[in-house]
Amino acid sequence: MASPPLISETEPWKDLRVHVDDIMKSHLRELMSDADRCQSMMVEFDGMLLDYSRQCATLDTLKKLYNLAGAAHLKEKINRMFNGERINTTENRSVLHIALRAPRDSVLNSDGKNVVPDVWQVLDKIKDFSERVRSGVWIGATGKVLKDVIAIGIGGSFLGPLFVHTALQTDPEATEFASGRQLRFLANVDPIDVARNIAGLNPETTLVVVVSKTFTTAETMLNARTLREWISAALGPQAVSKHMVAVSTNLTLVEKFGIDPNNAFAFWDWVGGRYSVCSAVGVLPLSLQYGFDVVEKFLKGASSIDQHFHSAPFEQNLPVLLGLLSVWNVSFLGYPARAILPYSQALEKFAPHIQQVSMESNGKGVSIDGVPLPYETGEIDFGEPGTNGQHSFYQLIHQGRVIPCDFIGVVKSQQPVYMKGEVVSNHDELMSNFFAQPDALAYGKTPEQLLNENVPHHLITHKTFSGNRPSVSLLLPSLHAYNIGQLLAIYEHRVAVEGFIWGINSFDQWGVELGKSLATRVRTQLHASRKKGEPVEGFNFSTATVLTRYLEASADVPKEDCTILPKM
Ligand code: F6P
Repeated sequence: MASPPLISETEPWKDLRVHVDDIMKSHLRELMSDADRCQSMMVEFDGMLLDYSRQCATLDTLKKLYNLAGAAHLKEKINRMFNGERINTTENRSVLHIALRAPRDSVLNSDGKNVVPDVWQVLDKIKDFSERVRSGVWIGATGKVLKDVIAIGIGGSFLGPLFVHTALQTDPEATEFASGRQLRFLANVDPIDVARNIAGLNPETTLVVVVSKTFTTAETMLNARTLREWISAALGPQAVSKHMVAVSTNLTLVEKFGIDPNNAFAFWDWVGGRYSVCSAVGVLPLSLQYGFDVVEKFLKGASSIDQHFHSAPFEQNLPVLLGLLSVWNVSFLGYPARAILPYSQALEKFAPHIQQVSMESNGKGVSIDGVPLPYETGEIDFGEPGTNGQHSFYQLIHQGRVIPCDFIGVVKSQQPVYMKGEVVSNHDELMSNFFAQPDALAYGKTPEQLLNENVPHHLITHKTFSGNRPSVSLLLPSLHAYNIGQLLAIYEHRVAVEGFIWGINSFDQWGVELGKSLATRVRTQLHASRKKGEPVEGFNFSTATVLTRYLEASADVPKEDCTILPKM
């Protein structure tokens, strides 16, 4: 059967291509002087304000983008996702992370079965377990309360929970419930990460949560075996059942590892790893730290965006607007990157999380039908909280390459500081930058302005800012668990919108497999060379040379089978 036409073959795509020339003739300086245009490029939802007036776009561009959405069958694709259809075709799975935060009485079907009761069964189990741990009913092998948690996991089993934890860590509503408790994340297989995680912790008071969708990820499983050894060495092997629990879709492997299946928290193959923060992957560690009630607010925030995404008209729909504008920037204006710039230190782990959500989802080279694409998909996402980023990479954004920016600001600081004699509060100082930077990018500074300021002639070109650099600004009312959930879901769905338009499968990740299988060959070689002195064989010249150098230079590692844990 012939594949449906690629989106680039449709009239709306071609129309947008032609439209680029019109837009290139305009400058944001002029576009921004049209107050009506700017007013129509602001959208409010649930206390949030999205301002996309600093996009290199007119209302005509938006119309054309809606036509593109029509040609890509965006509405139908969103509905297919919400209907639980198997839209992840290469893995033959539905994509239902929205079910993870759906209200208890709602219905979301996968293969004709409502999955919401299963979700709530696990949430109820997490609530019960986390309350028992937090209240000291569930205690460690030596009778001590488990006040510290190490969550082991990588990629989607790490980045989302870390982002949410970091965001909640300074929220007064959440911290009240975290008193005396610690949550740490062990992700990297680097033994330094083990050392950092166990430093200062006592196995007697530590609960380890092994988080892995597959329960086969090499890094996570080695780290899990390492911490199992850390617990056994200190407390005896029988202590493991009290000090280790698991989150996985693979309960058989959980049991094989030695964790009691009663202490395992399930999720399902219709949850992609990078979309799993609202499953037990995030909910268990976060509930252990902050209590289930706080985490439930986070789920409610995400759910509010799910409903908005499903039902709001495209003109008012935050994820749809953001997704369409991203496609405009990447595919038509030719800006392949995006900077995520939250003006909140609490959101310092947001960009790393979105890097995975976006780049693992949309970094694809073929259509969902396997047809090589004549256009690029995906964005290069990176970011840092403002104002730190300003003193780092903003130079390039202002005068080097054009990088569309997401400015994310918060009205009420989690931790306000006011000081007598200061011109503004510390949060206002931060927000002065949030408001200034988008205009600096949009307007720039002309040679004429510089001449008027008596800038020496030889510095004019150096001090000129071309401007016309696009950004969006998203202003959140506050940063409580609910808003954090909203922010997460806006970005998750924005990425889906982009993928739906590009006609790719945003829910598989075959690109991560090749490196994993090559590492297996190297691992086998390292074992053979270290234990049996076998020479390096079967690799290309470069790899063989450097591998041999590595082995020779580290010949002093123990030859005999022994256990050595970090001593920090
Ligand atoms: O290597 C990428 C990946 O497969 C991600 O998609 C996933 O989030 C991560 O590895 C961890 O996988 P798991 O949860 O199965 O350990």
